[in-house]
Amino acid sequence: MTITLAANYLCPLCQQALLLTGQSYCCANKHSFDRAKQGYVNLLPVQFKHSKAPGDNKSMVLARRAFLDKGFYQPLVDKMLALYQQYGQLDAPLLDAGCGEGFYSHQHKTSINQVYGVDIAKETIKIAAKRYQNCHFSVGTLSKLSFADNYFAWLTSVYAPILEDEFTRVLKQGGYLLTVTPAQQHLYELKQLIYRNANEHDISKAPIKALKLVAEEKLTYPMIFDNSDDVLNLLAMTPFAFKASTALIEQLKNTEQFSCQADFILRLYQKE
Ligand SMILES: C[S@@+](CC[C@H](N)C(=O)[O-])C[C@H]1O[C@@H](n2cnc3c(N)ncnc32)[C@H](O)[C@@H]1O
Ligand SMILES: [Zn+2]
Repeated sequence: MTITLAANYLCPLCQQALLLTGQSYCCANKHSFDRAKQGYVNLLPVQFKHSKAPGDNKSMVLARRAFLDKGFYQPLVDKMLALYQQYGQLDAPLLDAGCGEGFYSHQHKTSINQVYGVDIAKETIKIAAKRYQNCHFSVGTLSKLSFADNYFAWLTSVYAPILEDEFTRVLKQGGYLLTVTPAQQHLYELKQLIYRNANEHDISKAPIKALKLVAEEKLTYPMIFDNSDDVLNLLAMTPFAFKASTALIEQLKNTEQFSCQADFILRLYQKE
């Protein structure tokens, strides 16, 4: 039986514990945050927002979900789960920081852990919460997480901003942060269609200093697409999508087969 306990959030305004009362999370200072019908809670007060709709927009999220649903990044999930099983404390809370539509978050859910996903984009959290009801999703900013110090034993960050101080604060001693970032050849063939001199990704510097790097692994494999929708969805997920010309999009629509490298770097850090 899968157990989904009440979520343990802190009030983003006064850092007191939030208790779920009816359909609202309330703190002792009477700040209140409604639980949406999809089950998520918006813990991003307007004063924390730097734009009206921060984060990825709905069309990017839907393109990512369609692409991920086809399993092209499943080898990455398998590698992440293998590290989690090897190093993780499997009954302790886990946070997917910048979780997007929850693809990686939900695959970490077991019958004995609590999985949280936080993202600043409300549209993506809505979609995540609707599909993956056994995880706790919230709208929030990674620069001010609504969780107690030392709360998580495992944090994942897949292609999302890495906030060293906040991640270190919410991680308990002995806990781990797993980051996934692009390695040199990631989507190189797709980039070459856009930039005349496509650069390789720079992987030289590991961004975290407060935590100890305990493992670093590369994962490289070819992806072969024989459906142009898959390539267009992949393009829409990337930061270089807005550089693609209409002519290139037309060309991709008419391409029968396209292949391109997935090249990831996984880094596992521990809080000593
Ligand atoms: C490239 S997407 C990756 C999403 C997901 N991890 C995946 O790989 O499918 C980056 C995500 O980080 C979120 N994000 C960006 N800045 C953020 C911030 N300051 N706080 C929370 N989420 C943020 C975006 O909204 C977006 O969903
Ligand atoms: Zn409060």
